Amino acid sequence: MIQKIKILKAIIIIFSFSLTFSANAETVEEIIKGRKALFSKNYSTAKRVQALASKGEFDKAKSLMIKMSENYKTLLEYFPENSKEGFKTEALPLIWENKKEFNDLMKKSSDDMIKLTSLIEDSEDIRATLTQMMWSNCKACHSKFRAPH
Ligand code: HEC
Repeated sequence: MIQKIKILKAIIIIFSFSLTFSANAETVEEIIKGRKALFSKNYSTAKRVQALASKGEFDKAKSLMIKMSENYKTLLEYFPENSKEGFKTEALPLIWENKKEFNDLMKKSSDDMIKLTSLIEDSEDIRATLTQMMWSNCKACHSKFRAPH
């Protein structure tokens, strides 16, 4: 009887372990497609931020800026060592050779979106402020870390 309970316990432990592992391990495909989707989302959000801010709809624009900032933080986790190639990635190998520089650009982009929420309303030139605090960050990273296309 005791023997049977031990075996049963072992089976339960092994089973719950394998469940945790399969729940945590995202496949390379999911990671690469996931980060592409997040970047695309940020692109459409950035265009909406520009449209809303230009119309003076600052509250809506600000809540989208906060979402973009959060997305950048999430993206920090989307470049593990095993996601350097495949699935039409445009990520350059340089990212993993200069991981700190890459992550710092991502964090700066995230921080700038928060700064933008307090700057935008009093800006003399909204378009110029958005270029400086939002669009220039895309270019700074892409020109070095994303394949030209
Ligand atoms: C810190 C670096 C970094 C910043 C900042 C950044 N990007 Fe990217 N972006 C990348 C990398 C790397 C890729 C390639 C991802 C891949 O293909 O795996 C990418 C891909 C993209 C894609 C293509 C997604 C797809 O479906 O293939 C778009 C669109 C994009 N970025 C828009 C933007 C916009 C707009 C901004 C600024 C608002 C921005 N990115 C800021 C690094 C960055």
